[in-house]
Amino acid sequence: MKLQWFVSAASLAAVSAAPEAAKAPKPHVLFLLADDLGWANIGFHRTTAKTEDEKQGQLEVQTPTINQLVKEGIQLDRHYSYRICGPARSALLSGRLAPHVLVKNVAVTASNPDDPISGYAGIPRNMTGMGEKVRRGGYRTHYTGKWDAGMATPQHTPYGRGFETSFMYYQHANDYWNKKTGIQATGEITTCLNAFYDLMVENHSYRGPYKGPALTDACKSSNEPTPYCYEEKMFEDHSLEIIRNHDTSDVEHPLFLFHAFHLLHTPLQVPKYYYEQIEKDVIQQGGKAFDSENRRLLMAMTKYMDDTIKNLTEAFKAKGMWNNTLVVFTTDNGGPIYEPGSANNYPLRGGKYSDFEGGVRTSTFMSGGYIPKERQGYVHKGVVSVADWYTIFSELAGVDEHDDKSEEANKWLAKQGLSLLSPVDGKKGQLEAIFGAKAGPRDSEPLFLSGSALLEYPYKLVTGKQPYMAHTGPLYPNCSTVASMKGGHGPDFIDFSVLEEKVDLGDSFYWRGDCAAGCLFNVEDDPAESVDLSHDPAQKERLSRMISSLSTFNKTLFVPERGETHVQACYNAMLNGGGHFGPFVDIQGYYTDKPRVIEDLSAHEKAQMALMGALTFDSVKKTIQKYAPTLVLKLLEKSCDKCCTEESCNGGTNLNLPEALDLVQNLTKSHQAHQVAYI
Ligand SMILES: *[C@@H]1O[C@H](CO)[C@@H](O)[C@H](O)[C@H]1NC(C)=O
Ligand SMILES: *[C@@H]1O[C@H](CO)[C@@H](O)[C@H](O)[C@H]1NC(C)=O
Ligand SMILES: *[C@@H]1O[C@H](CO)[C@@H](O)[C@H](O)[C@H]1NC(C)=O
Ligand SMILES: *[C@@H]1O[C@H](CO)[C@@H](O)[C@H](O)[C@H]1NC(C)=O
Ligand SMILES: *[C@@H]1O[C@H](CO)[C@@H](O)[C@H](O)[C@H]1NC(C)=O
Ligand SMILES: *[C@@H]1O[C@H](CO)[C@@H](O)[C@H](O)[C@H]1NC(C)=O
Ligand SMILES: *[C@@H]1O[C@H](CO)[C@@H](O)[C@H](O)[C@H]1NC(C)=O
Repeated sequence: MKLQWFVSAASLAAVSAAPEAAKAPKPHVLFLLADDLGWANIGFHRTTAKTEDEKQGQLEVQTPTINQLVKEGIQLDRHYSYRICGPARSALLSGRLAPHVLVKNVAVTASNPDDPISGYAGIPRNMTGMGEKVRRGGYRTHYTGKWDAGMATPQHTPYGRGFETSFMYYQHANDYWNKKTGIQATGEITTCLNAFYDLMVENHSYRGPYKGPALTDACKSSNEPTPYCYEEKMFEDHSLEIIRNHDTSDVEHPLFLFHAFHLLHTPLQVPKYYYEQIEKDVIQQGGKAFDSENRRLLMAMTKYMDDTIKNLTEAFKAKGMWNNTLVVFTTDNGGPIYEPGSANNYPLRGGKYSDFEGGVRTSTFMSGGYIPKERQGYVHKGVVSVADWYTIFSELAGVDEHDDKSEEANKWLAKQGLSLLSPVDGKKGQLEAIFGAKAGPRDSEPLFLSGSALLEYPYKLVTGKQPYMAHTGPLYPNCSTVASMKGGHGPDFIDFSVLEEKVDLGDSFYWRGDCAAGCLFNVEDDPAESVDLSHDPAQKERLSRMISSLSTFNKTLFVPERGETHVQACYNAMLNGGGHFGPFVDIQGYYTDKPRVIEDLSAHEKAQMALMGALTFDSVKKTIQKYAPTLVLKLLEKSCDKCCTEESCNGGTNLNLPEALDLVQNLTKSHQAHQVAYI
């Protein structure tokens, strides 16, 4: 009797829902963004192995979950992004090509009061973010992990871009263990003296620093596979909770979960268990021990990412959501081939920071139950830009992709004579082309990759000086890379800055070469960009047409004055952010907690603030910057990879922040008189 009543109640509910159900429910979305993933550091780009080295390389990349998702999904073989992270992420989340939203990494603490719209890092304040778009279409929106698309005002944060909740950090990287912004994490010495944590929480009832027990490296030497204070573990737990709490009965409000890994960005840090296990797995499957410490660390981190994806996708399955879920996996940019980045884009040329394929052609696939059955295992060859996802999701959510807010702001910007905001660049019809196995909207038009590169598929123009102008092999980095570093021949990290000033050690350190007016490649016939066609008489016309086309595109480059770091941004982190980086302009009503006052600070924090204050004096700054190259070389030397056949490898290569700060402190000692004024 009882059972029957339930049955009829259920069918009644079904009948009353019928008019709505005529439209298929919108799919759940799980967006997985890896950081700095190299082309060769993922299983589906290691499917063929002819030589011994290639076989070894294949064994080292352990991504069984990803490989299976690719089998059930669609590879986007021509997915293009931008050569570095901040711009790539800003493009993804704003729907603009990177050259139309952000072309350089800018310090999150920068501000230019003369341009309250674009005068900050990341996405200009008055652009509508991806989260807001899909939320208007009914999605429940959540963000976990690395943000790196600006933080200056409450409008710049994930919450401000339409994510109802977020658990994230703002900069390129923090330390996986203590969540601080040490030199090894950020690759720079900043005006805020690398002093703060970078981990925040945002939701309707709380906005401010993460206050849990895991702001520590106490679990660093744990033997557990996934110790509680490893940042990726915290991110995974957070996303799992969101999936578990999602109300699946509310079909009008599907889930949009953006999970942005810290992995595989530096610092190369991974639980000991994974570091041990990866070598055991390789040897057990007939391979050799790793000769490079950093390659082993990176492969252990890759395995960790794969295991996380397994857990996340299983949570969707456990909730019965999988058959209506669209998974997207991509990476912000190609792999960094410098030390200590240690990625590998073999057989592609170059890496992060260069316009070669290794820097901008990004490993991407879609999967999940939403993929049409007949497309499972399909490889889509059409050109897709990182900026297209905004429009793809707007279409899925059933909302217009146009950005009225930025158009409104343009009226004001025009009056002020400031740079105007670009309209959305994402192309309509991409998903239809991909699912329908048809030509895509970008296949027959040029793609503006950067101020120095243009794709007119299958031809690609690369101009000017390019770092990492090299091909790596199947097992990279390796002992000869270590020898090269030790001999002072690179590949060093090109973006090291000291107090917001870049340090340039010279071309040879960065494997930098010159494409001058233009190198020309056919990336379909020659995916490794080995044959420069610019001297081929048959290509003369194409070359000059593409050069002039690039300079026309170049007139649309978006390069507003972003400003510089003012020490107030650091003081804000200390007082409003509770020792964590966070918004520092127009923050009324943003932070949940009352700001701290000087009396609340520890003696150590007070000393840090004093030192930051001392740095506002140009003479102090100049003194430190004078020592910068020496300092940088010293630090890079310490973070360098090890050749395990010659040195002992133990999973612990990391450079030393206290030593660097000690040096900075020594250099500023003579200016201590100034410090008092700042407390
Ligand atoms: C908001 O964040 C706070 C701090 O992490 C947490 O305690 C609270 O449960 C969160 N609320 C919601 C609705 O997610
Ligand atoms: C995945 O889930 C298992 C089982 O709950 C758990 O032990 C593990 O810590 C999770 N994370 C990873 C990366 O394996
Ligand atoms: C999807 O899964 C749900 C719950 O398990 C089920 O009711 C529904 O019939 C499935 N739909 C398809 C198309 O398989
Ligand atoms: C830009 O956005 C801010 C914050 O939402 C708003 O206060 C301001 O009016 C906007 N400016 C213009 C010119 O639209
Ligand atoms: C080892 O690294 C060097 C660059 O340092 C590279 O040229 C070579 O191809 C790599 N060897 C293998 C087997 O990948
Ligand atoms: C495009 O602009 C950038 C930045 O101003 C410049 O470096 C580059 O040379 C320009 N390229 C062309 C082809 O005009
Ligand atoms: C800083 O100064 C102290 C004492 O004068 C000295 O022992 C230390 O070696 C110096 N540190 C560096 C990195 O130069």
